[in-house]
Amino acid sequence: MSAPRNILVTSALPYANAPLHLGHLVEYTQTDVWVRFQRMRGHECRYVCASDAHGTPTMLRAEAMGVRPEDLVQEIAEHHRADFERFHISVDNYLTTHSDENREITSEIYRRLNAAGHIVRRSIEQAYDEQRGMFLPDRYVRGQCPVCGTPDQYGDSCESCGATYTPLDLKDPISVLSGSRPAVRSSEHFFFRLGTFEQELKHWVAEHIDASLVRKLDEWFDAGLKDWDISRDAPYFGFEIPDEPNKYFYVWFDAPIGYMASFLNLCRRTGLNFDEYWCDGHDTELYHFIGKDIVYFHTLFWPAVLSGAGYRKPSGVFVHGFLTVDGQKMSKSRGTFIMATTFARHLEPDCLRYYFAAKLGPTPDDLDLNLDDFVARVNADLVGKLVNIASRCAGFVHRLGEGRLSATLADEKLYETFVAEGDTIASDYETLNYSRAIRRIMGLADKANQYIDEHKPWVLAKEPDSADAVVDICTLGLNLFRILIGYLKPVVPELARRSERFLDIDELRWSDLSTPLLGSQIARFEALLQRIDPKAVQAMIEDSREDAAAASAPAAKQSDEIDIDAFAKIDLRIAKIVSASHVDGADKLLHLELDVGGETRQVFSGIRAAYDPTDLEGRLVVVVANLKPRTMRFGVSEGMILAAGEGKNDIFLLSPDAGAKPGMKVT
Ligand code: 2FM
Ligand code: ZN
Repeated sequence: MSAPRNILVTSALPYANAPLHLGHLVEYTQTDVWVRFQRMRGHECRYVCASDAHGTPTMLRAEAMGVRPEDLVQEIAEHHRADFERFHISVDNYLTTHSDENREITSEIYRRLNAAGHIVRRSIEQAYDEQRGMFLPDRYVRGQCPVCGTPDQYGDSCESCGATYTPLDLKDPISVLSGSRPAVRSSEHFFFRLGTFEQELKHWVAEHIDASLVRKLDEWFDAGLKDWDISRDAPYFGFEIPDEPNKYFYVWFDAPIGYMASFLNLCRRTGLNFDEYWCDGHDTELYHFIGKDIVYFHTLFWPAVLSGAGYRKPSGVFVHGFLTVDGQKMSKSRGTFIMATTFARHLEPDCLRYYFAAKLGPTPDDLDLNLDDFVARVNADLVGKLVNIASRCAGFVHRLGEGRLSATLADEKLYETFVAEGDTIASDYETLNYSRAIRRIMGLADKANQYIDEHKPWVLAKEPDSADAVVDICTLGLNLFRILIGYLKPVVPELARRSERFLDIDELRWSDLSTPLLGSQIARFEALLQRIDPKAVQAMIEDSREDAAAASAPAAKQSDEIDIDAFAKIDLRIAKIVSASHVDGADKLLHLELDVGGETRQVFSGIRAAYDPTDLEGRLVVVVANLKPRTMRFGVSEGMILAAGEGKNDIFLLSPDAGAKPGMKVT
């Protein structure tokens, strides 16, 4: 094995304005498997991440919730941290980009870039919302596409014809914040001169970026590297640019610097040397794991900023594709927009890690979580093949060998075959070909089961004086199981931990696997992993639908225009809440019984965080009476009551003035 390497690894920083979903977990799983693998091989591998705090969406969300953006960021970062832990993502540090360390390094990088002439200032014209008193990011302006005329398109590109443009090119633009027509104002912005780094970047890309991305990068080089706008005007949630009042660093400028900041924070707490990982001239490696949507930032802007400020460039950038569920984009109404927390409430995180790993290869292809296949695969591979080896052998070792393994291996050659696969499997992990590693490991699991099938310890055990022979067979079985668990440990850390406890061994390292475990005592066997019941998957989907219903905050964008006939199709009625109660197993819903003018309806409403059921009884509300009934886990919901607000405890029910009666039509 090679000399110990010193490696620093990052995952892309999740935005601090929403919780993590399964899409995020594809990346953290891919990263964490690689990190755990390196550590098992005896390398020093540090892994840092953080929540990406800044930008307009965080600012506006905090404003709508009536909290300070700093507090919102802290709260969401706490959720992110908890989800990382739940899914066994073994970060050494988790910070936010709104931290002292990030302010310190961002200012220093800017100072160095400025001193070296890499920053220029230019006035630019932008859409400005006079009612809100702010410049509008491209996505906050909508209007008619200047190329094909499709109405209601975003300010940066047209979903219909694919044209790209600026918000000022749109016809009949409106601000999605106020609905008013934006003015055009000019202001001075700061630009990073990316073009200066073209040659250096081309060399770096050729050496450090996977061939699957080179065509895209060539297109970008051919189109010419444009100056990058790194400033935004107040009001903005971010770091103010030193000595430039009311000018802020654009969120994407300080976000990757958050990698350095999180590591600096770790260094200050543990005594690690920051410069060894971020300055040239050291024998350390730096890798970023990202999704395919942010390749430009990480392969062009980021290495150029690092280089311009006198830091080292990354050793590699690993890119994965997007997640689909059952072949489609994750969808709130289908219940396939699954939050990390929701998954963990119903299913074991290791199972998801296993499924993702079994489908991840080295190229940025999209990955489908097919829920039926997920259940079938986990049950067949992890429970049916892997854990089965241990459960078939453990009982005999206890019954006939008092829980002690034999002192020799029944078939050394077989054991050696398993050991011999180690290098190939290691090289699959190293090159991010996890699906191939798993195919090999499962191939070995088949062989181990075959060995037990052929030697039939359960038949032999019935013969006189066979105890030693049976324990020998099962000792080999358990040794093969130990190797397999070792190979799979980067993917299923919790299952590995339980297996180590069962075998009563220290934490397995890769190098332990070539020496068999002989003559030692094992612990009592307890089920290491339960089969997945498809009902648990159904319950998770239902729960996700409920999450989505409860969080259905009014979108920032204005809804599409409808005509009066479309509006008239909605049957709005006054209803009286006859009874209100909590719903067992649903922490966001209330069960309401409504009197809609002589007719009683039941509705499940996501207002539990904002209302006490006893305060609701007798109250008049407005209900959508002709909404298609929805079957939920708890029963059928026969309508929807109207409310305003962002969700959670920020919900306000609509009520009519005094005099209105249940059943009255609202027009
Ligand atoms: O795309 C995103 O979700 C960004 N928050 C990723 C930032 S990665 C790094 F640059 F900080
Ligand atoms: Zn168009």
